[in-house]
Amino acid sequence: MVLLSIHDGHNASAALFKDGVLLAAVSEERINRKKFFWGWPVRSIDFVLADSNIGAHEIDVVCVSHMSWIQYAKRKLSSASTYAIQRPKIVLGNFYNIWQAFIKERAVRSFQKKYCPNAVLFFCDHHRAHAASAFFCSGYTESLVVTCDNLGDSYSHTAYSVKDGIWNLAVVGDTNESLGAFYGAVTEGLGFKPNQHEGKLVGLAAYAASSVLIERMKKDFARTTKGGLHFKRTPYKKMVTTVKSLIQEGYTKEEIAAGAQGLLEEIMLEHVGVLLTKYPHTSICVAGGVFANVKLNQRIKDRFNVSIFIQPAMGDEGLVLGAAWQYMSETTSNFEGVGPLRHMYLGTHYTRADIMSVVENNSLYQIEPFTSYEQTADLLANGEIIGVFDGRMEFGPRALGARSIVVDPRDKKVNDLLNMRLQRSDFMPFAPSVLSEYADALFQNVEHARHAAEFMTITFDVKHEWQKKIPAIVHVDGTARPQLVRKDRNQSYWMLIHAFYEKTGIPLIMNTSFNMHEEPIVSSPQDALRSLETGAVDSILFNYEFFVRLRKK
Ligand SMILES: [Fe+2]
Repeated sequence: MVLLSIHDGHNASAALFKDGVLLAAVSEERINRKKFFWGWPVRSIDFVLADSNIGAHEIDVVCVSHMSWIQYAKRKLSSASTYAIQRPKIVLGNFYNIWQAFIKERAVRSFQKKYCPNAVLFFCDHHRAHAASAFFCSGYTESLVVTCDNLGDSYSHTAYSVKDGIWNLAVVGDTNESLGAFYGAVTEGLGFKPNQHEGKLVGLAAYAASSVLIERMKKDFARTTKGGLHFKRTPYKKMVTTVKSLIQEGYTKEEIAAGAQGLLEEIMLEHVGVLLTKYPHTSICVAGGVFANVKLNQRIKDRFNVSIFIQPAMGDEGLVLGAAWQYMSETTSNFEGVGPLRHMYLGTHYTRADIMSVVENNSLYQIEPFTSYEQTADLLANGEIIGVFDGRMEFGPRALGARSIVVDPRDKKVNDLLNMRLQRSDFMPFAPSVLSEYADALFQNVEHARHAAEFMTITFDVKHEWQKKIPAIVHVDGTARPQLVRKDRNQSYWMLIHAFYEKTGIPLIMNTSFNMHEEPIVSSPQDALRSLETGAVDSILFNYEFFVRLRKK
């Protein structure tokens, strides 16, 4: 059974499954180079099919990560806001959204009619797809599942209690409860791009105490209602204006970010606490853009005595995984998911010949052989900034050693150097890739998030004795966001870090995503090679086969 899963909204993506096995997944932004691309993922669909050598006519099922327009219209028409005649803009907006859902469905149906007329169409509720994307690859047999984002199919958050294959819907919240909108409004008010730069707030928040503004923010921005089960937020524009007035009052960006982060954590911790009291699970799965917040995830882990798993593609790109697994769960008896997720290396990949055809006979480049992991560790220890371009590109927002820039983490000065070379904000922390065997030696309280930490989705407190040895990857609040690298998941990357460890006694290297300022992560050799020309990296290591550098003039 061939299943194509499509997301045609924010961060449009496609994934292909055959007989339940995930063959390939990619986000459109990586191919068309338009960050967070919103629209029909035409090139992603082409890639996943061609890469798997499957023709469109062979597709048996097309999964789409939103409701059918009829389902959506029913949800909208049952909402009180649709009849709020005193607020005509909202009423008109609701009908416009129904029209948009109709248009989107028409595009899906015309694709199906043209390329795979016999395929079954499956429309999956946005938040159910988020929930399924986390639960079905967590490896848990029972769990509380919480989703939270800006908005999808009219909902901004949901929670489920999953046990014995039964999903009990615990709560849903609409756009008026959107914590994603709250955090996005603060992001915008501080001069960053909402739906894009929320991570900058998380980094900035560590530089101030949340106590300065948290009480005021509760009043002016968001709070819990109904005993912690629901949220209430102020209208978006008003929140943006309030942030701007806070700046005029003399509050720093750091204080505002810290207040917003503290408030988000307080609201979500109360929410999760209420849910866990009502549904006493031993684990929690989360997905949705709000859980891109690695600090929030740490707070949940440290507060409750439960294991946590965060879907690595927690944003809307991950919906393609969830919608597909949801379909399988509804059509396969005793579907238990796909076990603990092993990796996210699902995207584009290039052979030696592919890459050589670009770099050979180009006088700009000098090609050198990869002789050993030790040789590469030497380069790192001597201060070289290396772009690692290896095998299949990662699916989801994190670079996990397939499209990563790696650096020696022992000297804090490397942060300024990298910020300058990559044109990044100086308050953003850099993350480490760590030999998984050393996780407990380096970090506090790893056990409950050991699997999640393979995907860089959660921070940990760095143990005191290590903070001075690896200053470049410790944030100002003493935390780090590691990728725990297992030898059985990515052997080459593990060998590189291990060689660095043998040489320096440090079982980790610094890993930042291989991209240039405000661009998506590199996908093709050509994307990567531009970073040599802009001076972002000193060399690129392709597939652990050879290095490419700029030829010395
Ligand atoms: Fe979403």
